[in-house]
Amino acid sequence: MAALKLEPRPGIEGLVPYDPGKPIEETQRELGLERVIKLASNENPLGPSPKAVEALKSAISEINRYPDGGCYYLKRRLSQKLGVPPEALIFGNGSNELIELLFRTFVRDGEKVVYGYPAFVVYRLIAQAMGIEGVSVPLKGMVHDLEAMSQAAKDGARVVFVANPNNPTGTMVSHNEVMEFINSVPQDVILVFDEAYYEFVPPARDFPKLVPELLDMDRPIVVMRTFSKLYGLAGVRIGYGIARPEIVELMNRVRQPFNVNSLAQVAALAAIDDEEHLERSQRLVWEEMVFLEDELSKAGLETVPSVANFMLVKVGDGNKVFHELLKRGVIVRAMGGYGLHQYIRVTVGTREENEIFLQALREVVGV
Ligand SMILES: Cc1ncc(COP(=O)(O)O)c(C=O)c1O
Repeated sequence: MAALKLEPRPGIEGLVPYDPGKPIEETQRELGLERVIKLASNENPLGPSPKAVEALKSAISEINRYPDGGCYYLKRRLSQKLGVPPEALIFGNGSNELIELLFRTFVRDGEKVVYGYPAFVVYRLIAQAMGIEGVSVPLKGMVHDLEAMSQAAKDGARVVFVANPNNPTGTMVSHNEVMEFINSVPQDVILVFDEAYYEFVPPARDFPKLVPELLDMDRPIVVMRTFSKLYGLAGVRIGYGIARPEIVELMNRVRQPFNVNSLAQVAALAAIDDEEHLERSQRLVWEEMVFLEDELSKAGLETVPSVANFMLVKVGDGNKVFHELLKRGVIVRAMGGYGLHQYIRVTVGTREENEIFLQALREVVGV
């Protein structure tokens, strides 16, 4: 057969596809392991809210119908909860989809987007796939360097992404720092604060309060959040954005009409009011983060202090440690792709999972 002459858009040839890894069951089978624990994707180790599971069971017989393209009930409930009008909300197939929607709606030919390095990798991947110039601004001491990002924003940027807390570092920028940053960036640049992990930030920390305040600011600001992390609904894919209605209205023109499936809407609506599950999940992360930090410190391992549900651990050869942990049935993330070759990123699990991880890590690094 003759080779097909395929000429993808510029940037696609150089893209390395996202590696989703093998299913846990496959890793387990290949390595002959009795048990595999996954601490690699910053998911909720307690699972979804039991209320979401119940709601899903009764919704499943309705999947012959298209979903509600406007997420009517969920939008109304979330609008009450956040104190913003329904028109200030937009939902996506995970917050990942909203990142793409922002690019497709706002970034014009020749304009740039700015993000930190290392930060959530999807900003860069979408820029590259769309042939848009992405400007990576190095973090300073593992924290977003907002001053440098503001400088970069002055040079033809359309959108600036600030992941707060940041992934993979777990660090945050504070309210005052963010306010100063907002005021220093040209008024027409769209500022996106990706708050996928904001629910894990301990209350004592001075986390920026942008909702609902951003609705009264005379500049375009978007806050993105997700049901994938604290809410334990990563598998059904649903995230949301909060912005002034004129921004949402433009994004809605580009959005696929049925982008959020019906099961995701039902699960999110049920999970949103399950305070008990949410509080239990937060408490687990706060307690277990302290436990992990203490144990790692006793083992002489350096960690990056994190306000999210994961943390970076300095282990020497991160890639090697990742493979050795995998052989022992523990899946974490190697950080070479983020330029952090000496680190692994581990998600906070249950006490039992964390103990298994710590035991395996002690074996691997010999402490
Ligand atoms: C910083 C950040 N933003 C957004 C996302 C995307 O989450 P989702 O598409 O599941 O809502 C992630 C997922 O890991 C993330 O780490």
